[in-house]
Amino acid sequence: MNQKASLQVQHDGVAIVTLQNPPVNALHPAVLNALFNCLREAHARKDVKAIVVTGSNGRFSAGFDIAEFAKSSGGGGIDSRINDNFCALLESGPKPTVAAVESMALGGGLETALACNARICTPGTKLGLPELQLGILPGFGGTQRLPRLVGLQTAAQMMLTSAPINDKKAAKLGLVDAVVPKEKLLEAARAWAAEIAAGTKPRNFSLYRTDRLEPLGEALPILEFARAETQKRAPHLTHPLLCLDAIRVGVEQGGHAGLQQESAAFAQAASLDTHKALVHIFFAQRATKKVKGITDAGLKPRKMKKVAVLGGGLMGSGIATASALAGMDVLIKEVNDKFLQSGLGRVKSNLASGVKKGKMTQEAADAVMQRVKGTLDYSDFKSVDMVVEAVLEDVGLKQRIFADLEKACRPDCILSSNTSTIDISLIGQKTKCADRIIGNHFFSPAHIMPLLEIVRTDKTSPQVVLDTLEYGSAIKKTPVVVGNCTGFAVNRVFFPYTQAACLLVDLGLDPYKIDKVILGGFGMPMGPFRLSDLVGADVGLHVGKNFVEAFPERTYNASLIVKLNEAKRLGEKTGAGFYKYDAKRKTKPDPELAPIVEASRKEAGLLKGGKPPPMSPQEIIEFIFFPVVNEGCRVIAEGIVDKPADLDVATVLAMGFPPYRGGLIKWADLIGVKHVAQRLNQWAKQYESAGLAGFFKPCQYLQHAADTGSQLSAGVRPDSKL
Ligand code: 3HC
Repeated sequence: MNQKASLQVQHDGVAIVTLQNPPVNALHPAVLNALFNCLREAHARKDVKAIVVTGSNGRFSAGFDIAEFAKSSGGGGIDSRINDNFCALLESGPKPTVAAVESMALGGGLETALACNARICTPGTKLGLPELQLGILPGFGGTQRLPRLVGLQTAAQMMLTSAPINDKKAAKLGLVDAVVPKEKLLEAARAWAAEIAAGTKPRNFSLYRTDRLEPLGEALPILEFARAETQKRAPHLTHPLLCLDAIRVGVEQGGHAGLQQESAAFAQAASLDTHKALVHIFFAQRATKKVKGITDAGLKPRKMKKVAVLGGGLMGSGIATASALAGMDVLIKEVNDKFLQSGLGRVKSNLASGVKKGKMTQEAADAVMQRVKGTLDYSDFKSVDMVVEAVLEDVGLKQRIFADLEKACRPDCILSSNTSTIDISLIGQKTKCADRIIGNHFFSPAHIMPLLEIVRTDKTSPQVVLDTLEYGSAIKKTPVVVGNCTGFAVNRVFFPYTQAACLLVDLGLDPYKIDKVILGGFGMPMGPFRLSDLVGADVGLHVGKNFVEAFPERTYNASLIVKLNEAKRLGEKTGAGFYKYDAKRKTKPDPELAPIVEASRKEAGLLKGGKPPPMSPQEIIEFIFFPVVNEGCRVIAEGIVDKPADLDVATVLAMGFPPYRGGLIKWADLIGVKHVAQRLNQWAKQYESAGLAGFFKPCQYLQHAADTGSQLSAGVRPDSKL
């Protein structure tokens, strides 16, 4: 018996080896070592005829311990010895092995099960190889054994998408040999193992199977197609191609050669920045739920059972949908029956779209809709635990609503606003309950976008912040707690993004070229001008004004968006903005944009000698994103985010910043803080006479990190004693 894996020999001669590393039995090197020792002992003991491998705490394993990747310079110490040692011992040791899988077998966890001679799981189990989403590839033989069990097409798909499959699909594909109820799992696995030992059931060796693998003539085109698709979909990523290479070598030269290729490819992928960035995002995303002074304050979160949403518009109905989907009772309040019915209709159609996409059954959607009720007054608000106000961005209106809410709701009800721009303290100014007023900033569409920006003021009580965090998790959002300021965290870093792009146009660059670089060259889901069209030039102008007023010293007051508004080219909704749109929302460049761009350039007066500055795609990327990093540093320095990594998560989930670049701040660290500061200083000087020094000048936090060689992610403020 040891700590990380235990061995128990049963009266039937079947040894049960149990992984013990809660909460998810991550395969830390110490666990692998313990597992290896247990296997060796079981194989050596005369009273053991077969082995069952299982996991403690109702879970098999979520794979190799990702924290080890974060510690090491790459690869977590995984090398080919793992395959030669424990996988080979599981697969081809003297005694047969059966994996008894409950709840999850992911990454190295599934690979452990794949190396066993049979697999049995429980209903609801998720099985998958999600390594690619960590910037690596399966490293315990998964690239070889999975295709030999489920066929190349399915296996490649599972690896490339990182998406797990459920028990039913696994059984259909032959990935598991049986699905049995949880309470029967060990008994069934023991019986199966004993039967293999007795020769009444076959002992299968995954690495040597060929019956499910497509013939070479079919296999190679499948891999070529997958490669071409991957290059198209993820042109910046190398590790999916390394994974496909390992699969191909296995198909062409056999499993052993494939394992060697897998090992080499794994080491190569693990040395890339992509891997560091994605591991960072994995932990950063989980860490947003841990907030200093809130989650460590010994408070108990209260569950929100009933939520009222004020306003049944696009945002309100999305918030209502997300809340009802999480099992909460929802009350939508509107000002008249017409608006109320269309709000309820929107919730219904959100659910219908979930049914259409196969995310839920019609019966489930009907049950969710049953939880959503409409109202035109506050009479039912005494039973509500939280209100989310989602009405027009009008301070006076919101202030009146909050004053009414204070009277209509219980004294412990949380009063929140979905505002994206207005000071939360201002919204609550006409109440006496500032301690339970908070921002719940959703991103559109609210039932789909994964981020929830929780805005606390200096008066919001820790209990209310904690309860709102709990609400965010319950509705399956990644909640990020931020401080109260213009634009909070996300929109605040969005401002310089749009402004820098407009500045480049005024300097003479083509907006379509800029979009192409930011989309294809950098990996954002769309360029800044396509995004502006999506949001609407009117909304952009309105939101931008807040920033100009709040931070005039560092604003590039571009006239491009103003001119688009004047020309009534508001974007997608008017059929034209920077682009022209057809009925199917397809874009094409529009020659009619040229005079607007010309007028903006003329007004800016920055285009010297009629020629734009020569800029490489990388320079364009830096010109747009370094001011964004600079603003992000101010957000960190002012304590608007709890920790720098929160901003990485927020930019990935709300802005679409490529996760494989690690989020805004990690990206700057990876490319070098000194370089960022040096470029910003250079532009500050270069554009000083145009009044743009403030737009570029590195803030104190950024300059300090550059001067001292510290990382922006370290959160070391210039005034910090650390
Ligand atoms: N290693 C280390 N810690 C892990 C882990 C792993 N593989 N998987 C989960 N955890 C930790 C989380 O960090 C979290 O810790 P915390 O409570 O301290 O924040 C805790 O386990 C619970 O995880 P979640 O909060 O994510 O809980 P959920 O129930 O929402 O999700 C999960 C569970 C589906 C297992 C999800 O955590 C997950 O997807 N984990 C990653 C799975 C994965 O990518 N595995 C591949 C690892 S790489 C590998 O195996 C390489 C091999 O091929 C050699």
